[in-house]
Order: sequence, then structure tokens, then C-alpha cells
Amino acid sequence: MTILVTGGAGFIGSNFIFHMLGKYPQYRIICLDKLTYAGNLSTLSPVMDNPNFRFVKLDICDREGVYQLFEEEHPDMVVNFAAESHVDRSIENPEVFLQTNILGTQVLMDACRKYGITRYHQVSTDEVYGDLPLDRPDLLFTEETPIHTSSPYSASKAAADLLVMAYHRTYGLPVTISRCSNNYGPYHFPEKLIPLMIANALADKPLPVYGEGLNVRDWLYVEDHCKAIDLILHKGRVGEVYNIGGHNEMRNIDIVKLICKALDKPESLITYVTDRKGHDMRYAIDPTKIHTELGWLPETMFADGIQKTIRWYLDNKTWWQTIISGEYQNYYEKMYGNR
Ligand code: NAD
Ligand code: TYD
Repeated sequence: MTILVTGGAGFIGSNFIFHMLGKYPQYRIICLDKLTYAGNLSTLSPVMDNPNFRFVKLDICDREGVYQLFEEEHPDMVVNFAAESHVDRSIENPEVFLQTNILGTQVLMDACRKYGITRYHQVSTDEVYGDLPLDRPDLLFTEETPIHTSSPYSASKAAADLLVMAYHRTYGLPVTISRCSNNYGPYHFPEKLIPLMIANALADKPLPVYGEGLNVRDWLYVEDHCKAIDLILHKGRVGEVYNIGGHNEMRNIDIVKLICKALDKPESLITYVTDRKGHDMRYAIDPTKIHTELGWLPETMFADGIQKTIRWYLDNKTWWQTIISGEYQNYYEKMYGNR
């Protein structure tokens, strides 16, 4: 079994590669990644010498390069994590989101049609469903919830999902889609809420909370997401969408306060800043389908997962401090300088 994992030098893709190489020592894993600002080759250093692993620096939009890789490796399955993934960046510059998230998906699926695969899996997001009101805790996203996007990021992911289903119906491509809630855990890029707050708190810097911090996200430990995708690849039904989430809704402000407490930092570091444009209020996943059909359940509860995550950031300062000292600094100044 050869699996092509795109975007594997990013947060969830790298965790997925570690999971798959650990669980299936007989599988060959090829990681294709463009190494954008969010891709970090050092993350993959623990597996670089594994004879069952190969890294290829490539853009998923590069049709010729992708076809050549398929000719060399003949992957049985493709798992597409490669994407521009940060909502705030999509508000600043949508174009690259449409390029990578939609057209890149098309190139990968064209390669799958040309060379043949047993499964193309699209890693999507709960953000394609838009948001839910705070005063209706009974409402959850199911796979039947209509697509209703808010940001250029979520619109690009939704467009890709529609294209994936179109390739299934029109060309019979054996596809599956997963739509997961917010992930947290090791190797999370330090511009996203949880790692940003950990890094800033450790440096006694302000903790920028958008609006009033009342927005709710449904957090899942990254390893549980990887296990769910593994299950979908092996047991999921072709042509189906699976929602992934662990019923763990938290307000942003409560997460930031929890991080302050865990790091013994004062809540006076919390700074309320101008809200994100079009900010989704609440995400909440109904994971009934993946639970009943595939037996998936989250294994790491938030109380444990967040402590493990904070420990990881304390033990791996070099990983994130190197990132913070680079191009990311300019980004930070641009996004938070006048906020
Ligand atoms: P990330 O930004 O950490 O990593 C993305 C990776 O894709 C990086 O390694 C980057 O170099 C690579 N990449 C970007 N453009 C590329 C291109 N054109 N060609 C090849 N590689 C390219 O993102 P993440 O948080 O790991 O998310 C991975 C996937 O999971 C995305 O598709 C995202 O939409 C989805 N997702 C993320 C979350 C979350 O909470 N992070 C939740 C649900 C779904
Ligand atoms: P983020 O990690 O960007 O994920 P997403 O927007 O895809 O859910 O943000 C999570 C939540 O945290 C979201 O409601 C926006 C909020 N947020 C802040 O309040 N401050 C910040 O500096 C960041 C990056 C996010």
C-alpha cells in the first residue's frame, strides 16, 4: 500500500504521517508539500530516514510535477491535507486560497483519474457549514447541513468539496470527504489561537482576543482526527461525507484563561482587539455518523489534551521559536500592529 499525503509538512498532515508510519510499518508514505510559510520540513525529521517514507517538495497546482510523481510512485490512495488554512490570511489575500484549495484539488483528482487509485480522500472542515447561533445549543452540524460559508477560506474549501463530489458522480472517482472541527496539539502553527496564546503568554506579551472572546469552537485533539481519517480510508463508504468532532465546545476567552492559569500568567495579559470580519459565532459537530458506521470515538478529552499540548510547546521551544523569528514576524506586525 502506497499512500500519497499532501500537505504533510503542516500541522495535521505531519501528525497523520507519524500515526500511519507507526501503525502500518508495511505501508509506504509519500509526502508531497510545497513548504509554504506553514510547512516545516524540520517537523518531519523523525521520519526522514525511514525507508518507507519519501518527501517531495512540490506544489499540488503543478500538474506536470504531480503527474510525474504519480508515474514514479503509483499511489494506491491520496489524502489531501494541502491547503491554505488560516481564515485571517484568507481575508487579507483570498487568491492563493482559491488557487491551492480549489485548483490544486482538481489537479490531484485529475492525476487520480489518469493513473487510477483506490481512494481519494479530501480533508475538509466544519467551516463549510457556516456558523450556528450561541443561543441554540441544540443545533449541531450534520452531514446534511447546507453549505453556507463565511470566509474566503471556508468558501474555497466548500468549492473543493463540491468538485470532489462532482468527480465522484461524473467520473466515478472513489472519493471520501471528512469535515472536522478545530484541531489542537503538537506542531500547530503559532499563528492559530492556542499556540499563539501559549507563545505570547510565555513571552509575557498581550493575548489578542478578537471581539469579546465569546465565539465558540469545537476542539478535537489532532491524533483523534488522524485516527478518524485512517478509519475512513480503510472502512468508510465511497462517495460519503463524514463529520468528525468530539462534542467539546469552548468559548475562546475560556481557552485563553485556561492557558494563563496553566502557565501561571496573569489574565491582565488578555487584550481585546477588533473582531475578525465575518467572524463565525459557533461551530459544533454532530459525529453520530462516523460513530455508528465506523465506531470512531475521540480518545483524548480536552482537559488532558490541552495539558499535553502546553507541555509539548514547553518542551519544543526551538520548533516554534524558529518559526516566530522568521517571516512570521512581518505577518504578526501587519495583522496586529494597528488592531
Ligand atoms: P497547515 O496550514 O498547518 O498545513 C498546510 C500544509 O499544506 C503546509 O505544510 C503547506 O506547506 C502545505 N501546502 C500549502 N499549499 C500547498 C500547495 N499549493 N501545494 C502543496 N502543499 C501546500 O494546515 P492544517 O491545520 O494542518 O490543515 C490541514 C488540512 O486540514 C487543511 O486542508 C485544512 O483545511 C483542514 N482542516 C484543518 C483544521 C484545523 O483545525 N487546523 C480543521 C479541519 C480541517
Ligand atoms: P483560529 O485558530 O484562527 O481557527 P478558526 O478561525 O479556523 O476557527 O481561531 C480560533 C478562534 O480564535 C476564532 O474564533 C478566532 C479566535 N482568535 C482570537 O480571538 N485571537 C487570535 O489571535 C486568533 C488567531 C484567533
